[in-house]
Amino acid sequence: MNIVDQLYARRPVETLSFDSETAFETLRDQLLEIKQINAYYVKKVLKRIIDLGLYIDDTDWIYDEYVTLLNVTDKDQYSQIDSIRYFFKNKYEIDGDRIYVDIYEKPNLISASGTTGFRTWEASLFLCEYILQNEILFKDQNILELGCGTGICSILLEKMQYPQKIYVTDGDSELISNQLVRNFELNKISRDNNSNIVLQRLWWNEDKIPNDIDIVIGADITFDASLFDSLCQCLLECLTYCKICLISATIRNQDTTDSFILTTKKLGMKIEEISRTETLENTTLLAPVVIYKISK
Ligand SMILES: C[S@@+](CC[C@H](N)C(=O)[O-])C[C@H]1O[C@@H](n2cnc3c(N)ncnc32)[C@H](O)[C@@H]1O
Repeated sequence: MNIVDQLYARRPVETLSFDSETAFETLRDQLLEIKQINAYYVKKVLKRIIDLGLYIDDTDWIYDEYVTLLNVTDKDQYSQIDSIRYFFKNKYEIDGDRIYVDIYEKPNLISASGTTGFRTWEASLFLCEYILQNEILFKDQNILELGCGTGICSILLEKMQYPQKIYVTDGDSELISNQLVRNFELNKISRDNNSNIVLQRLWWNEDKIPNDIDIVIGADITFDASLFDSLCQCLLECLTYCKICLISATIRNQDTTDSFILTTKKLGMKIEEISRTETLENTTLLAPVVIYKISK
């Protein structure tokens, strides 16, 4: 990955590898662009460049720029929304030579405003990889995403033009009307005159399930055992219309995961593990993630 892509991905500065093919002017323009939304990251990148003694012919600009950012702290950045580029591997290529999705998010955030949807969670990245490896499953299907958060899985599906129709849903209506809409725009996915992309609130076991769905997907929606009754009731209702639900779950606590499995079984659903991160080579994902296939 060249340095520009690494910067788009906001790779930790200690892991950046500066390639000789990228001209300094390109790197400079990229840093100036990022400075608009994440000055603290640019400050850290410049410090790294100085520490490594890189770009000796351009040190004036590097030092001058670094000095202007000296007062910027991580606290200034904490409340800011950044734009992160997530790259995915696939045998096909779009947007040049890589598949990627851009997401506005607050990456430092664990939970705010009662929602966990303002950052992308690893379970959704793993589900994205699964989607790309199993495109045939999603081609020309009507898909419902539950608890979409930043919407990365649905945006990837839409970018790849797999689904016929996609319902992108979350229980948080503010997230839908603000951040989710902006993320679709950021990825240049037009929803004008396109009734095939539906962004809507769907609170599990409360709001109406669309009756023309083929597949349900959900990532990191099994984090809280107190929500399992409503979530599993919702999945059961979905299965009156669709064939399967694919739920990507981060295993933070085995008891919580077991409780989710038990709740699905109690309601008469079949649950089967179909993929897990430990089986991947060179995965960049940190916590174990499992994808469950749930059916009737
Ligand atoms: C941990 S986040 C995962 C977001 C996204 N799928 C991802 O993996 O990045 C959980 C999401 O579920 C949503 N959520 C939580 N409880 C919900 C409920 N009862 N009904 C609908 N959505 C809910 C939250 O608003 C949040 O966006």
